[in-house]
Parts: sequence; structure tokens; C-alpha cells
Amino acid sequence: MNVVVGITGGIAAYKAVNVVRGLVLAGHDVHVVATDAALRFVGRPTLEAISRNPVHSELYEGVAEVRHVAIGQAAELIVVAPATANTIAKLAHGLADDLLGNTVLASSAPLVLAPAMHTEMWQNPATVANVAALRSRGVHIVGPETGQLTGTDAGPGRMAEPGEIIAEALRAVRPRDLEARRVLVTAGGTREPLDPVRFIGNRSSGKQGVAVARAAAARGADVTLIVANLDDGVMDGLGSAVKVLHVSTTRELQEATLLAAGTAELIVMAAAVADYRPETVASDKIKKETQGDTLELRLVKNPDILHELTDARHDDQVIVGFAAETEPDRDALLTLGAAKAARKGVDYLVVNRVGWTETFGSDENSVMVLDARGHIVAEADGSKASVAERILDVVR
Ligand code: CTP
Repeated sequence: MNVVVGITGGIAAYKAVNVVRGLVLAGHDVHVVATDAALRFVGRPTLEAISRNPVHSELYEGVAEVRHVAIGQAAELIVVAPATANTIAKLAHGLADDLLGNTVLASSAPLVLAPAMHTEMWQNPATVANVAALRSRGVHIVGPETGQLTGTDAGPGRMAEPGEIIAEALRAVRPRDLEARRVLVTAGGTREPLDPVRFIGNRSSGKQGVAVARAAAARGADVTLIVANLDDGVMDGLGSAVKVLHVSTTRELQEATLLAAGTAELIVMAAAVADYRPETVASDKIKKETQGDTLELRLVKNPDILHELTDARHDDQVIVGFAAETEPDRDALLTLGAAKAARKGVDYLVVNRVGWTETFGSDENSVMVLDARGHIVAEADGSKASVAERILDVVR
């Protein structure tokens, strides 16, 4: 999605960098339109590096391409964070004396504002009236929160956290086709300890599962996300709309998942689960001196959580499994997937190819979605965010 992030001149502009980052990580094409005042708070190179696009601030640059309207016309969503009292006043009155004002006026995209200012300014009748006018026109206002402000004062006026702003912004544009649907997603990879410092694990980053949770929340679902050992930063910008539970081992995941599954209407089991665990866990670090040249590990089978879920499934519950396979041949991959869908008793199975260099940790994925009979019902290729949307389109 083409997203314009407008940044105006308040100290909270430094937090806007994380709004830009979160939107980019979620797979969006982000274009920053900064006021001159904003660029006194955050440097252009920072915003360009994070947004991966040029930053626009000048009304009289790019005149030949009619930039003052082109950016707004192309935008599918505009987020202004922080929105100062001055910018809110200008937008409420349709002023267009800078590039951001022109961009907003030339756009019919949803507009989300994250106000940030001192409490007196926020409570001033002028600002109150301006915010009310914007709201009455369908503008989404996120925050402000009550808390410590820039000086020694505290009160309402603090910009909402980046995750909240992103979640609200995505809610503003998505179809609300999962409104109030109870969705349970697992993500990441379980780890089985050998001793206090070592474990057997897998390379799942958790990005695809988190993307499914993020997308479901943006479409209105009531999402519980159970995460096991995610890579750093994967949940950045998730917002409080998703309830997150942390686990590490397969049996912890089993307990949390079975408990949460009772009320779930859609379950997406994206976690990579360790099928075996060490039969015994050493209470102290295993030492070479006592082991010698070889170390034998005896592993015992872990529960198959997905199987337990489908065995206990209640009416109207949709259960989606994932299968990461190293099989390179598409037909053979499909055969494996069809057999797994049947064996696990799932309604849908998302099949993707993995390898030493593919998929794990990447922001991209390529999947086939099979139904219970093993027939392909969708294929998706692109950012994990877009793959998540496609999966939800099919399984919801
Ligand atoms: N899964 C699970 N519990 C396990 C193993 C896997 O719930 N002990 C789930 C995964 O979350 C995934 C699906 O089952 O949604 C398929 O996982 P995969 O590892 O591909 O399946 P396995 O049962 O391990 O099958 P195989 O050994 O043939 O790869």
C-alpha cells in the first residue's frame, strides 16, 4: 500500500521514525512528507534510510511532475505523526501553504492524525474545535496519551506509541471483514533445553505468523498471538489490539494453545514446533570433561499440538496448519502437502518451501494454500504482510 507519513514540527517527530519503520516492515511503500520544522527535529537521511524513499518537504520542488498534488493522489493512506496544534488547525481549515497541506487536500485517502502537544494547547478551545471538525469529516485521531511531556510537565498531549498509530492507521483502510472474530495465531519456533544454557531449536523467525496476527487485527479480529522465541523486532508496531502470550518449549506452547483454542473461531498454527525434546534436561551445564569425544542425546516425541486441536475442534472452528518443506519439486511438494493436510485433519494447510537460504528470517514468502482435500485454493508470493492478507482472504 502507498502510505504517506506526514511529519510535523514537534519533539515527538523522533518517535515518528518508528511509525515509518513499522509501516515499512509491514510491507508498505512509505513516502515521508515532512514540514521544515519537522526536519529540525529529525534528519532527512534518517527518514530516507528508514522509509527507503526520498523525503519530500519543498512545495516548489518537482513542480514539473505536479508533486504538490501527485503525492496525495497516489496515497492510499495518510498518517500525520506527530500532528502539532498548528498543523491540526491548518488541516481543519483546509490550508495548503506547505507540501503536507497540499498533499492532504489533494487526497481522498483515509487520514489518521496522531496529535502531540502540551496539555494547555490540546485543551485550548481552538484545538478542541479543530479536532471536532476533523473528526466530523471522518478523520481518525489516535491519542494523545496522558503522560510525561517534553518539559517537567505531565498530562494529556503525549503522542500515542508508534505501534498504536500503525494499528489505528491500518484499521482505517482495511475491510473490517473479521470484525470481532476470535482468532488465535501461533508464531516463532519452540526450543527444547538440553541444559541451562543450550537448546535444540529451529530457524523460524516468527515473521509470517506475526504478519497474520497483525493483518487479522487490522481487519477487526480479536487476536491472541502465542509466540515462541521470535527474532528481535518482529513484533514492532504490533499495537495493543493483539493479546500476546510468550512461551518457549513445545509443551508450553501446547498448554497455552489448547487453553486459548477453546474460544477461538479461527486458529492459525504458524509456529514451527520441535517434534522431539531431550528425554532428560541436565540441571548443570554439560561438560566436555565428563562427556569425552561423543555426546549422545536421547530424544522423545513431543505432542502434536495441531493434531490435538483438530481432534478437539468444535463446530464452526476453522483450523489452519503450516508446512515448511525442503522438497524442491512443486508436484512432490503438493503431494506432501495434501498428505499432511489429511493426516493433520486441518481445514487449510499453508505450504511453503524452505531451505538453507530460503524463507527463514526473510521478509518475503511464497506459499500455496491447500484445502482439506489437498487442492490449491490460493497461491501468494510477496511480502509476508501481503501473504498474510491473502491467507486470511481464503481461510476466514
Ligand atoms: N505442529 C504441531 N505440533 C507438532 C509439530 C507440528 O502443532 N509437534 C504443527 C505446526 O505448527 C504446523 C503443522 O503442524 O502448523 C505442520 O508442521 P510440520 O513440522 O510441517 O509437521 P510435522 O508433524 O512435523 O510433519 P513432518 O515430520 O512430516 O514434517
